[in-house]
Amino acid sequence: MESTACQTDDSLLKGGHRKKKPSAFWWWALAVLVLSLFLSKRKMVQRRLEPLMEPMVERLQSMNINVTQLELPHGVRLPAVFRQENPPRPGRKLRKRGLGPKHPVIIVPGFVTSGLELWHGVACAIKYFRQRIWGSMGMTQSLIGDKDCWLQHMALDSATGLDPEGVALRATEGLFGVDYFFPGYFVWAKLIEALADLGYDANNIIGETYDWRLAVPNMERRDGYFTRLKVRVETTHQLHGEKVVVVSHSWGDNVFRAFMRWAAAGDPEWVERHVAAYVNIAGPTLGVPKAITALLSGETRDTAELGLIGAYLSDNFVPRNQRVKLFRTWGSGIGMLPAGGTAAWGNATWAPDDTPDMAARNLTYGVMLTEVRVDERAQAHGKAVQPAAEKGPDAGLAESVRSWVQHLLDRNDTDVDLVIKKHDVREAVDILVEDGGARFKEQVQTWGAVYEENAKSCDVDPEDPATWHVDPLRCPLPHAPSLQLFCLYGVGKPTERAYQYLNLQTEELLEKSEDADREQPQNEVFWKIDLGATDKKVEDAPLDRGVRASDGDGTVPLLSLGALCARHWREPRLNPSGMRVVTREFPHEPFQNLIELRGGPKSADHVDILGNAGGGPKSADHVDILGNAGVLEDIGLIAAGHGAELQDRFASRVRDIAAAINV
Ligand SMILES: *[C@@H]1O[C@H](CO)[C@@H](O)[C@H](O)[C@H]1NC(C)=O
Ligand SMILES: *[C@@H]1O[C@H](CO)[C@@H](O)[C@H](O)[C@H]1NC(C)=O
Ligand SMILES: *[C@@H]1O[C@H](CO)[C@@H](O)[C@H](O)[C@H]1NC(C)=O
Ligand SMILES: *[C@@H]1O[C@H](CO)[C@@H](O)[C@H](O)[C@H]1NC(C)=O
Repeated sequence: MESTACQTDDSLLKGGHRKKKPSAFWWWALAVLVLSLFLSKRKMVQRRLEPLMEPMVERLQSMNINVTQLELPHGVRLPAVFRQENPPRPGRKLRKRGLGPKHPVIIVPGFVTSGLELWHGVACAIKYFRQRIWGSMGMTQSLIGDKDCWLQHMALDSATGLDPEGVALRATEGLFGVDYFFPGYFVWAKLIEALADLGYDANNIIGETYDWRLAVPNMERRDGYFTRLKVRVETTHQLHGEKVVVVSHSWGDNVFRAFMRWAAAGDPEWVERHVAAYVNIAGPTLGVPKAITALLSGETRDTAELGLIGAYLSDNFVPRNQRVKLFRTWGSGIGMLPAGGTAAWGNATWAPDDTPDMAARNLTYGVMLTEVRVDERAQAHGKAVQPAAEKGPDAGLAESVRSWVQHLLDRNDTDVDLVIKKHDVREAVDILVEDGGARFKEQVQTWGAVYEENAKSCDVDPEDPATWHVDPLRCPLPHAPSLQLFCLYGVGKPTERAYQYLNLQTEELLEKSEDADREQPQNEVFWKIDLGATDKKVEDAPLDRGVRASDGDGTVPLLSLGALCARHWREPRLNPSGMRVVTREFPHEPFQNLIELRGGPKSADHVDILGNAGGGPKSADHVDILGNAGVLEDIGLIAAGHGAELQDRFASRVRDIAAAINV
């Protein structure tokens, strides 16, 4: 780290703004850039210049040129982006304060964002030995080349949730598995950089990757992940003489909490002795509604994590029925089903996070799934053509139903009747389980935390996987009085919360499929999000193409991100040893900055390359938050042993929501 270059940097900084002329090449390159700005259309410029600019600005900064002051020959000003201050390096800032590494940092990554490599495959995939089948640019090519082969390797065995015959994908190991999803798309790279700036290196930042497709119990059963993580934490603790700080992202939170239960079952003091702080970034503590849609109809909207899936599993490549089949083999998807039941997610008349607009219109998030179905057997003639809901709050319903009914009428099926059913979270999961068949139901009972029955006992039985991953609203945190628990997450981005669904399974089809094998999803997927349903009149909770959004980070609703941290984990019932719990909310302000395309520095007065003064580049999106300078600084402080400085910071109404959740 401490090279001569660094010393030069420091002396230059101390010596004030000593100017150094950039070489002719850089003048030339800048001139070309500026010229093309004037000559091309804005969007085109943006797209073309992005890859060029980052290295260029970095190069200028490494030459210690204050880019804010640069002027081109002949009085031409630099594009605004070059004139902003150097992006802050949170690690350096802490270092300047005299802080340094204290606790070793263990990274537990989330769903989808880490690489999977092929170790064993069938003939079509032999050429990909030890290459990333997931999490690389190459995967796009292999997908286009041979979709069926790729799908065959990405799926797990639908009966066991383990490797299919002859196929084995394994997580890319260590920091390589977590830093970039593919070149240019950072996941943990910014945190690793910030910690390195603070003085960390590969000895005390550890990426504990895992196969994110597996159900929690199968992570231990197949890969011994819990055992490995336990030994890793113990060894790290021993080597450095300090307890560890564990940083998880997204689904990694559910994994790590299950791990703590498991570790504490063998030794109730284990967590207290080994873990100084647990940093839960964007954890879906109570699950996500979109796990239902992914498993029921294979539909995933373009939001961060599952958006990554969307990028590779778009309708064109992989039909919905194949996606449903694939997703249902991934036990982790089942683990992400909403937990906490109706107390957390609401019922037919009420939900803890209902907005004022919704209450005024008699709408509730508690209806997680509105089912719209045409009953072809009903005798009431033509009733459907004038759906009752047309005048009510579900105005969007009318439009989509009408076109569908028209379709039936065109087929001369005039005996149609419209059925609208409202389902709360429990009924929505029942629909999913019913659709998935007996074996799937058993897996949901074992691997998910959706059924309150599972929470009857909160004791962990190392032999019984159903006791590992439990309803966090009913089972307490481990005994660890000196551990500090931090929840860091983004707010202010519309996030899927409830759905309107078309049930395309008519009575006739139902009869036909009754004796058919329901273990495997049928070729047909009978459920489909009602894309025709849009109602923007409810301003704070609009229904957009069948999806009603709530506050959140774009992937996980606020309710699941924050309610436990804001209240329940602070109460003796769930936190018997009284560990310190801190919530830090980061309001989402999309990036305006082409250097820091995602995440981004904190400066509020930022101006982008096109001269637009924006809302500030503070992305707090589900994945991008891992590049948010405020988050990186918080983690640096915690790792440096100064977590006690961090106090609660609320930006949403999460405390009201938490107050409304009563068990
Ligand atoms: C760069 O120049 C600007 C404007 O003259 C000045 O405000 C800023 O402090 C300078 N930054 C550094 C790091 O020298
Ligand atoms: C829904 O939950 C609320 C709050 O717990 C309760 O007051 C209400 O009676 C419930 N409604 C139904 C239909 O269960
Ligand atoms: C609100 O919805 C409930 C249940 O669907 C219904 O009983 C009630 O009449 C509705 N109230 C209004 C004002 O529409
Ligand atoms: C429906 O009925 C109309 C009139 O009875 C007829 O002209 C038309 O061909 C029928 N359409 C179909 C698809 O059978």
